[in-house]
Amino acid sequence: MNRRSVLRPASTHAMSVRRPSRLLFVLATLCFMILFIRILPGQSVMNLTPSFARKQPIAFRPSSFDWSTVQEHFPVQPDSLTPLPTGHKKLPKVQHDFPSYEHDEHTEFRRSKVKDVFLKCWNSYKAQAWGKDELRPISGGGKDTFGGWAATIVDALDALYIMDLEDEFRHAAAAAVEIDFADTEDTAVNLFETTIRHLGGLLSAYDLSGEEALLRKAKELGEMLYHAFDTPNRMPGFWLDFEAAKSGTQLGGTRDPAAGPASLSMEFSRLSQLTGDPKYFDAVHRVKKFLQDTQESTSLPGMWPTHLDFQHMSASGSHGYSLGALSDSLYEYLIKTYLLLGGADDSWRQMYARAMEVVEKHLLFRPMTPRKDDVLFSGNTWVRVDEGGRVDLDAEVQHLGCFAGGMFLLGGRTMDVSRHLDIGVRLTWGCRWGYSVMPTGMMPEIFGLFACRGNEDLLDFCPWDNERWRAHTLAPTLEKGWRNAREPAYQLRPEAIESMFVLWRISGDESLRDAAWDMFESIMQATETDLGNAAIANVTVKRGQAEKLDSMESFWLGETLKYFYLIFSPPGLISLDEYVLNTEAHPFKIPR
Ligand SMILES: *[C@@H]1O[C@H](CO)[C@@H](O)[C@H](O)[C@H]1NC(C)=O
Repeated sequence: MNRRSVLRPASTHAMSVRRPSRLLFVLATLCFMILFIRILPGQSVMNLTPSFARKQPIAFRPSSFDWSTVQEHFPVQPDSLTPLPTGHKKLPKVQHDFPSYEHDEHTEFRRSKVKDVFLKCWNSYKAQAWGKDELRPISGGGKDTFGGWAATIVDALDALYIMDLEDEFRHAAAAAVEIDFADTEDTAVNLFETTIRHLGGLLSAYDLSGEEALLRKAKELGEMLYHAFDTPNRMPGFWLDFEAAKSGTQLGGTRDPAAGPASLSMEFSRLSQLTGDPKYFDAVHRVKKFLQDTQESTSLPGMWPTHLDFQHMSASGSHGYSLGALSDSLYEYLIKTYLLLGGADDSWRQMYARAMEVVEKHLLFRPMTPRKDDVLFSGNTWVRVDEGGRVDLDAEVQHLGCFAGGMFLLGGRTMDVSRHLDIGVRLTWGCRWGYSVMPTGMMPEIFGLFACRGNEDLLDFCPWDNERWRAHTLAPTLEKGWRNAREPAYQLRPEAIESMFVLWRISGDESLRDAAWDMFESIMQATETDLGNAAIANVTVKRGQAEKLDSMESFWLGETLKYFYLIFSPPGLISLDEYVLNTEAHPFKIPR
């Protein structure tokens, strides 16, 4: 990478600035047509050398089925549509002031290494798995895990743009706008995954590049996903079953993961903002209303259990609470949707603030460690309804829950609550600690610790109790203070580096970059393959001995490497005062 682009101000419109004049445009179109006719019979436009096609707007190709022609069975009457809220507030600044930031060579070296790894994986994907959802990083070839709609391409679009890989971006965007969402072997689609990966990826790529075809593709997909809400009470199911949607037999689930239907609000709100059609926002607003109506009537008032009954709109039938799998992004999306809506609807913030009171009281814990590390974690909480409503905290940590540090930091800044910043810093360093004490340098997927007892305040230390640890640990050879490593895999997940990135942006603390580099090197050492990077089975084995698994999910390129790249980039690139990132790390522009 040359010096100029390193020092490029954080303009994300570098490409649109380079738009050619009208005459050039006409000439280029002519040349394009001549060449197209002469050398490309029978070949897909997708294979055009991208540098050749670069100056053209990307050509949209519709899917072979148009969901806007499907009659809704339980339509919302136009006069009962909730429009996007108006009256944006002046939101507090999120990012640290970096008045004298200088991008030094040392950091640039690290950034270029991240980019090299990204490109290696991307090139393997192109050569071996193009159009498939994922690359097999060991055996080669691809696999389809999310409908076969090129999840890796769509998830990587904005990362390609952010990393200044313009030709690759245009090549990928041209392929993305040709995806046929009617072409799948599956009979149903995972509403949540398709929304956060595909819809989120298309929307952010549009927000960054301004390429109209990307928005058209997003709208086309949004139209399909919107049909998931066509149920008697307008609550979507976890799956969008194509036939059931067409025949009007869909129902909300009676025991669905809360984070499925309840974290679609960013993507659907952004789609309404960009298209001017309020129906997408209306759809997620109804789910928010359900959450709002039930917030105080659960077995742990203020929070929602991991499973909800969307069909009967009840939140009282399940009693496990967590910031990990099943309900994580429900909480994340409350504060992020508040930001994305420009602070215009305070209820999202209020619901978030209330939930975090309960999280602080009942889910967060300080681990008991011999060195009294100043860190926090989030565990799983159970309400024993048949034992007088006793609230039990299980000090079990999930890698998925490591996003919580970044969430507390973002929320702390947004609401100006310093206590939340104190918590967010400690949650973030907690996951970093989890990486650093493992022999391979990576934190397990799920592991157990010992929660401090008897400390009056969550942020207080507690004494080390060697007997307690020795009596109960199942993993005496691991770091003292660990109870077990119940699921010892590392799946190339992003949540720990995500929170470190947010903490660096809000604090400017350079030590985060050294810690991030250390994590990056450990991950490389354990996961690198000839083609890319592979998940590993067990992070508790000796360094260099971890068994690799033939899996590289699209979030490795879309999230993990993007966050590593951004933490080594100047702070103006995807400023958190201009963008809010969805749960798949896709940045959406905050309207001003
Ligand atoms: C992970 O490795 C440790 C140390 O070698 C071993 O004791 C443990 O059984 C392994 N766990 C699994 C699930 O393979």
